[in-house]
Amino acid sequence: MTAMNTPYTSEDLRTAVGAAVRAPSLHNSQPWRFRLRDGGIEVCADEERMRSVGARAWGVRLSCGAALFNLRLALAVAGKPATVRIRPYQDDPRVLARLLPDRARPAAGAERSLYDAIARRHSNRTPFWGSPVPADVRSALANAARAESGWLDFVIGTAAVGAVAEIAHAANRVLERDPHYVAELARWTRREPAPDGVPVRVGGPAGEPQDLLPQRAFGVRPRAPGRDFEPEPLVAVLGSARDSDTDQVSAGQALQRVLLAATDAGLAVSMLSQPIEVPAAREQLRLALGRYGTPQMVLRLGHGQTGFPTPRRPADDVIDIDPR
Ligand SMILES: Cc1cc2nc3c(=O)[nH]c(=O)nc-3n(C[C@H](O)[C@H](O)[C@H](O)COP(=O)(O)O)c2cc1C
Repeated sequence: MTAMNTPYTSEDLRTAVGAAVRAPSLHNSQPWRFRLRDGGIEVCADEERMRSVGARAWGVRLSCGAALFNLRLALAVAGKPATVRIRPYQDDPRVLARLLPDRARPAAGAERSLYDAIARRHSNRTPFWGSPVPADVRSALANAARAESGWLDFVIGTAAVGAVAEIAHAANRVLERDPHYVAELARWTRREPAPDGVPVRVGGPAGEPQDLLPQRAFGVRPRAPGRDFEPEPLVAVLGSARDSDTDQVSAGQALQRVLLAATDAGLAVSMLSQPIEVPAAREQLRLALGRYGTPQMVLRLGHGQTGFPTPRRPADDVIDIDPR
């Protein structure tokens, strides 16, 4: 931080965290904590919540990366943009990012549009209408991933989508055979109002044999007759060059930038991470895409009926006071 840049205040922190917590997270586990330290804002992995999502530390880093992107946007819109260091302390892997105040400037139009999309974005697990996503929107989404050091590959053609779907189903079967995973999903499925977890009403309809892609089973809602999923979904894979902890936090930022750009373009999106969570499936997915780098998330995009945002814990519950 140079002498010119005003340190962040607890007021800045609270406002920005209000936006950060709207980020998507694995099972809506919200595995993050935020604090103010020496005039900078820090994003930490919540170790307790990390334990409750099993071995999926990858998911914690992606979720925190998405929250980090929202923090950046909120600070930029407040005229106090940040420079970010990911994993700033070698000896403390819990601290995933540190944001330091950059030179004050008014927010760019693009930052405002993405920021405005934060409150509207939500996972939409319902069938989409099947109308095509225009090429210029697709390339804007690929650019959004690239702007955060990621890549976004659209899976084009029935055979290629079928191959990705097969990998996803195989991964889903592997996961569903694991009693710890089944218990974990049940633990994060909410039938009563709660500030975290996935409410049954947004969990998507029950899977049917004709479904091309597997749904994560957050409670089972019966399917309305004739309301099948679109037969030719637009599927995209988001990835990063490598797969270090730092790359995964960056991938979370790229994910959120893509999701917000998609929301801004009026698209609905759902996420499928089963093929990322099973190492053999992840490798198959990489080979199917025919590229170097590491897949970090599979997305289904399209036009659909607006869904419902899921609850979040309030900012005060996820802000730590620096003990020093
Ligand atoms: C790392 C990660 C993995 C996810 N995997 C899935 C998934 O496999 N299936 C799914 O339906 N949603 C998945 N989601 C979406 C979350 O369940 C969702 O973000 C969370 O419930 C909050 O809801 P919202 O996105 O509507 O705000 C994933 C999200 C993240 C960040």
